[in-house]
Amino acid sequence: MQLKVDEFRALAPRNRLIVALDAPNVGGARRLVERIGESATFYKVGMELAYGGGLALVPELAAVGKQVFLDLKLHDIPNTVERATAQAAKLGARFLTVHAYPQTMRAAVAGAKGSGMQVLAITVLTSCDDADLLDACYRFGVVETVRRRAEQALALGVDGLVASAAEAATLRRIVGAGMLLVAPGIRPEGAPVGDQKRVATPAEAIRNGADYLVVGRPVTEAPNPRVAAEAIVAEIAAARRLD
Ligand code: C5P
Repeated sequence: MQLKVDEFRALAPRNRLIVALDAPNVGGARRLVERIGESATFYKVGMELAYGGGLALVPELAAVGKQVFLDLKLHDIPNTVERATAQAAKLGARFLTVHAYPQTMRAAVAGAKGSGMQVLAITVLTSCDDADLLDACYRFGVVETVRRRAEQALALGVDGLVASAAEAATLRRIVGAGMLLVAPGIRPEGAPVGDQKRVATPAEAIRNGADYLVVGRPVTEAPNPRVAAEAIVAEIAAARRLD
């Protein structure tokens, strides 16, 4: 626990940006990584890329010193989740996501044990609002569901949570400094929101206590992804008054 807290404090603004490599194939993802160059140190491989052969990119990125967030959002019977998590850990990813169902989180924590890969639980997708949860037969709204799932994740020894920046301040109070908070749904001022519903600017996310920001389209669809990444790093640095 102490190690994690020290790690957060030492983390430079650049290392807090995770660029989502949402590309249909490995070639497209590699081109993005080349264009972004040294401006990003952390990449997310999500479902689109993983199903397009992108799992091979995980060891490749790790070999050149990049950190990799494997966003596979696992959810299955415990035996399958535990074994799939153990397999994912062999690829060299730093983070793996699972949905925040107690059975699933427990199994993933067991599967990641001893590997160095950290498990992040998805509380409620940032594309969902209260009406979407009701539609999906959930009993509580976003705020209550996120709160309950955060408490469960903490109790089960999950390393971190993925939640919207809007919930980060509340989550920090619930889970304390020992859990990582990773915020997607990041939109620099004026950027198109797209399908996201619970969005925040990079500065808002950092001020709310997020440790890492996941940014996809505002970087990957920018005319110059490197410039877009640098602007976000500068905004993170200004928000933290760090260099
Ligand atoms: O393009 P955009 O910045 O919206 O991309 C956000 C990325 O973060 C996507 O890859 C998406 O799958 C992921 N994500 C999210 N909301 C979550 C968890 C992951 O948007 N709750």
